[in-house]
Amino acid sequence: MNIVILAAGLGKRMLSDMPKVLHRLAGRPLLSHVLDTAKQLSPGRICIVYGHGGELVREALGDNGCVWVRQEPQLGTGHAVMQAVPNLDERAITLVLYGDVPLIRPRTLERLIDSAGKGIGVLTATLDDPSGYGRVIRSRGRVVRIVEQKDATARERAIREVNTGILALPTAKLKGWLAKLESRNAQKELYLTDVVALANRERVKVAAMSADDSWETLGVNSPGQLAALERIYQRNVTQALMEQGVILADPARCDVRGSLVCGRDVAIDVNCVFEGSVELGDRAVVGANCLLRNVRVAPGTRIEPFCHLEDAEIGADCRIGPYTRIRPGGTRLDARVHLGNFVEVKASNIGAGSKANHLSYIGDTDVGRNVNVGAGTIVCNYDGANKHRTVIEDDVFIGSDTQLVAPVRVGRGATLGAGTTLTKDAPAGELTLSRAKQMTIPGWRRPVKKK
Ligand code: UD1
Ligand code: CA
Repeated sequence: MNIVILAAGLGKRMLSDMPKVLHRLAGRPLLSHVLDTAKQLSPGRICIVYGHGGELVREALGDNGCVWVRQEPQLGTGHAVMQAVPNLDERAITLVLYGDVPLIRPRTLERLIDSAGKGIGVLTATLDDPSGYGRVIRSRGRVVRIVEQKDATARERAIREVNTGILALPTAKLKGWLAKLESRNAQKELYLTDVVALANRERVKVAAMSADDSWETLGVNSPGQLAALERIYQRNVTQALMEQGVILADPARCDVRGSLVCGRDVAIDVNCVFEGSVELGDRAVVGANCLLRNVRVAPGTRIEPFCHLEDAEIGADCRIGPYTRIRPGGTRLDARVHLGNFVEVKASNIGAGSKANHLSYIGDTDVGRNVNVGAGTIVCNYDGANKHRTVIEDDVFIGSDTQLVAPVRVGRGATLGAGTTLTKDAPAGELTLSRAKQMTIPGWRRPVKKK
């Protein structure tokens, strides 16, 4: 099979400087959804027809094993497919997809190809409001041609069966038909849809079929439609999660922009966003208003509300948040770690049972087991030019408001007094502190305001 993805259109109604197919659905360009679907059909080749601003599209998606064909100028869907033809295997069938119709499912396309046989398969839809679409004209039940809205008579416009644009075609014959296309129509374009009438004249069978679900063939032309498709996509994802037993406080307030894999008895409160690849182990709980991007959470861990966690592996039975931030750079938390409010962690490893419950920054640090990080502890990992690592060994107790000026090491079982600015290694098992001596000035009086 050949697959041709049409993606050269301007997308004027997006009112955007960005090519339409790069607008994002579930965090990824529209075109990459279509490309993924295409790949699932294992075609011999995928040909992407791009145009206006197309270099940006190519850059954003990479070559992706596809043949990229430029269409310049854009003279219609028939003209677009013509550009792809030299790259198509004539013996195989050609499936035409649209870069701005992102929700189409592989199994619908497989059915379309089956129904086409050696002829043409047209994916159609029956709409309450068919305006804007090409209408499917039948004669004695058979599909004989497709007429565009702008060329249709009032009577044809009343037809509610429309062309979704997705077609399966016999490639060798397609070549011949494309060569015969003419632009004598309202838009002065070469319409791909005119091949249906040409096929009919040659008595090539045209089969019409509709998608399993009507949302599959919806296209994106405007920001409103993009948002509507996003909701459909998210509804499908959350429905699947609930079917696997995930408890969602409100499926309408959970967005998955990537993949979310959940174990048993996972519960997710409202307004959570999952990006990239996220895994939640058995009994994991995610509180309201959290964003997790590329995070793996082991069983039994609770993420309290308002956490922003990235690039992290979180062990079992941890308690994270509320208001914890894990920044990109790769952080690993072992089992039973507690991170509390306004604790920021970056590129650090924290051992089992260690706690940083309030107002801390832990960056580029290896923390051992059962360490207590007091409120207001800051690791000064950056000297203005370079980052340095800090090591805090097992069973260390760090008093509140301590600064650890990296690179520095705190030995096993050491205690750091509150307010310490640690610039040299602290020996194991000892109390280390840096603190100005406390003094009292007897009889000192506060200044009073002059009258
Ligand atoms: C097309 C169909 C119409 C169908 C509708 C479904 C034709 C003549 N008409 O109409 O029957 O009901 O889609 O949405 O095919 N494109 C190119 N190069 C071009 C023109 C278009 O790559 O020169 C691409 C666009 O990026 C888009 C797709 O083809 O992905 C459809 O183009 P669009 O202009 O939206 O077609 P319609 O006029 O809506
Ligand atoms: Ca369109």
